[in-house]
Amino acid sequence: MTAILETEALTKRFGNLVANDDIDLVVEEGSTHSVIGPNGAGKSTLFNLITGLLEPTSGEIRFNGEDITHETPHEVARRGLARSFQITDVFDGLTAFENVRVAAQFADDRRSSVWRSAENLAEPRERAESILEDVGLADRADQRAAEFAYGDRRKLEIGITIATEPDLLMLDEPTAGMGREDTVTTIQLVQRLADERDFTLMLIEHDLEIIMSISDTITVLQQGAVIAEGTPAEISANEEVQRAYLGGADL
Ligand SMILES: Nc1ncnc2c1ncn2[C@@H]1O[C@H](COP(=O)(O)OP(=O)(O)OP(=O)(O)O)[C@@H](O)[C@H]1O
Ligand SMILES: [Mg+2]
Repeated sequence: MTAILETEALTKRFGNLVANDDIDLVVEEGSTHSVIGPNGAGKSTLFNLITGLLEPTSGEIRFNGEDITHETPHEVARRGLARSFQITDVFDGLTAFENVRVAAQFADDRRSSVWRSAENLAEPRERAESILEDVGLADRADQRAAEFAYGDRRKLEIGITIATEPDLLMLDEPTAGMGREDTVTTIQLVQRLADERDFTLMLIEHDLEIIMSISDTITVLQQGAVIAEGTPAEISANEEVQRAYLGGADL
């Protein structure tokens, strides 16, 4: 197994508060790796450090073996580490197709700046069409994003993010504000795309049932520190997790 992302003794303090405390994380390439923990445990802070939105107090972050600890969000994104849904915003004035095509163009620019691929890649136009198909928006390709209702907009956001062809996609509560059914559909969609399009997925999600059903590995944070890491079965059976996170309730 190859690690796509590693953190070493990653620490972030906000004044006296240690929001991330000495975090060693290894994310395997191709896996679905979830981060769970109570409110305020430091999950979003961890994602913000990794994606360059916050500067660590100390520690190191490596992506594909390279040190990205002090890089900006833009530099990190160019390496193929995408964070939905913030870096790639939906442009209301563009159609669904145009939105995805712009993102596909970003993927090309990124590729040519990092290395020249020998593959004969499809044009951004064709890739955009295939992505709209994948996220179920093919028949609405020519509608302006401004006209989209909430659920379709989230699908479009996923399409845009996928079009940037990330190696690692980090989602911080992507289904916030959705009902149960949409939550399940959306997460399943993202995971299917991760499978088909071969990227690694990191996820923060409050719905434990979903987390347990889709994750290869789960990291549990409490008060900034990792208290457990393992498969869903291992995490469900972990007494410290049950005590700390759920007050003894069954996972
Ligand atoms: N920019 C900031 N300045 C000061 N304190 C912060 C900042 N960002 C986060 N914190 C604090 O750091 C701690 C961890 O916050 P974080 O947002 O990472 O938690 P979380 O696990 O994502 O919580 P939630 O489940 O509620 O989203 C909290 O106590 C929070 O108040
Ligand atoms: Mg959070």
